[in-house]
Amino acid sequence: MLRSHSCGELRLENLNNEVTLAGWITGKREFGPILFLVISDRFGETQIVCESKTMVKQGAALSLEDVVAVSGVVRDRGDNRTTKITTGDIELRASSITLLNKSKPMPYDHKKNASDTIKLAYRYLDIRKSDIRDKLIVRSKAASVVREYLDALGFNDIETPMLNKSTPEGARDFLVPSRLASGSFYALPQSPQIFKQLLMVAGMDRYYQLTKCFRDEDLRADRQPEFTQIDIEMSFVDEDDIMQMAEDMVRTVFKKVIDADLPSHFPTISYAESMEKYGTDAPDTRFGLEIQNLAPLFANSEFNAFKSAATAKGMAVKGIILPDAFASYSKNQLKKLEKEVQGDGAKALSWFAKVEGEITTPLLKFLSESELETIANMVDENGIMFAIADKESTVLTALGNLRKKLALTHNLYDTNSFSALWVTEFPAFEYDEDSDRWSATHHPFTDFDVDAVERGEEMGKITSRAYDMVINGHEVGGGSIRIHAAEKQKKVFQLLNISDEEAEEKFGFLFNALQFGAPPHGGIAFGFDRLIMLLTGTSSIRDVIAFPKTTSASCMMSGAPAPVRTLQLSELHIAVKKED
Ligand code: AMO
Repeated sequence: MLRSHSCGELRLENLNNEVTLAGWITGKREFGPILFLVISDRFGETQIVCESKTMVKQGAALSLEDVVAVSGVVRDRGDNRTTKITTGDIELRASSITLLNKSKPMPYDHKKNASDTIKLAYRYLDIRKSDIRDKLIVRSKAASVVREYLDALGFNDIETPMLNKSTPEGARDFLVPSRLASGSFYALPQSPQIFKQLLMVAGMDRYYQLTKCFRDEDLRADRQPEFTQIDIEMSFVDEDDIMQMAEDMVRTVFKKVIDADLPSHFPTISYAESMEKYGTDAPDTRFGLEIQNLAPLFANSEFNAFKSAATAKGMAVKGIILPDAFASYSKNQLKKLEKEVQGDGAKALSWFAKVEGEITTPLLKFLSESELETIANMVDENGIMFAIADKESTVLTALGNLRKKLALTHNLYDTNSFSALWVTEFPAFEYDEDSDRWSATHHPFTDFDVDAVERGEEMGKITSRAYDMVINGHEVGGGSIRIHAAEKQKKVFQLLNISDEEAEEKFGFLFNALQFGAPPHGGIAFGFDRLIMLLTGTSSIRDVIAFPKTTSASCMMSGAPAPVRTLQLSELHIAVKKED
């Protein structure tokens, strides 16, 4: 070993011990004839004192971030003790310093606000110098807790292939060209969905895997092109079994990793209720500000924009009431909020405030006495009602986002708290206007009441046996009970206008397997990165991934993706088209 202790380990009980520390030089300060150095590693830092002429000379020759091993005797810092670092009671009086490796000067100053571009280009330095390191440690701990939890319940960790056949699962695939089969491609898994179902047919009963998934989709603060799932599948279960197990696993992770107590039971709300109250299927319920339907209020309004939205099909007029805030708003700030909702596609944001018992609004002259009175009864003194009249989906999205923004601006919740819930009763199908056909909302293997279609129920109203777990407004996991009967699966493909040939080509191997005694089964997959975001309190998924991609899906450090040599391409039977 090049060291006897870590840089965060020494305490008063080590006084007078001969020790050796190894790490990076992170501080250097002359004090008369004495030289103080700070040596750091991921466990902490320790003050080194160089007193003899030789030590001072050797210490002075070191630069910041040089890698060294320092031996010496531990002594009391006496009057200079500090509680700022864990080793603040002691210091190491150096008797030998070995330079293990020199470092070039840092390319950026980590104490100043360096750009993301440079930090991502030198990600390994960012990890060394910032709290990303701590977040990766939380990630590692969480993975162990998950494994321990699932292993104890008899789950088996089984790997599934990375080189697969492309199957439509919602997002665009990342493709890998085959060298041996000209013109053919593997697809990287968007999730191990089909394989985990096959493992149930194989009788494995309880499967899990912490695995990479790949989706070529537009990136956001909580989305990466390659991310990690805790993927789970169980046989002979129904929704409650999976939801209870999943909830208990997440509770255990939060407790063991950050000592946080999640509720002993996660409430369930239906997709329809979630959309109506929060404008999203992943609601943040740490605060109220629920969306109100204002259609009854404005159904007979003289103000045409409201009246037509309140009465026309597919349109809506809805609002949010923000209590006790109007005095702090300038006209300009209200305009800014309007710009935000316009960013979500809404035409305008109306507001009504209560001042000394009366409603004040730019729409005063368009509204009747009785409308103003109703609003005055809904809003308390100094409160503001925001309203949007537009296409229903636009209204919900815009108010859903406005709700989050207002809650954050007005500190309406404790940012360190957690609210966890289940969203269920998702529509089984969604209509895709572009291709003019219905597609499965979750994936086409999700179970639902297939007879409902024969009973004549509207496709858009049929709900499936899918469930999402949502924590603080993030969809952290989603799953469903699967269709296990081949006949039923066939019917679903027919409903979705997937022809027999297409079904055979794309899902033939699953379809075949369902005919060989597939047990009833279901599962769930968690976005592991998202769970870590919550555990570490960060709003960027990049903070919890050692080497993440940018929003344009590239790696600032390695330069991926990058062109390859012509020979490599020709071996893969690929010619790159020149962009016009
Ligand atoms: P789903 O597509 O809902 O379900 O994915 C499961 C969970 O994975 C996370 N997630 C992501 N995290 C980061 N970046 C992304 N691009 C990304 N996409 C998804 C989310 C999501 O809840 N096979 C099904 C699961 C099942 O039915 O068992 C599936 O993949 O937290």
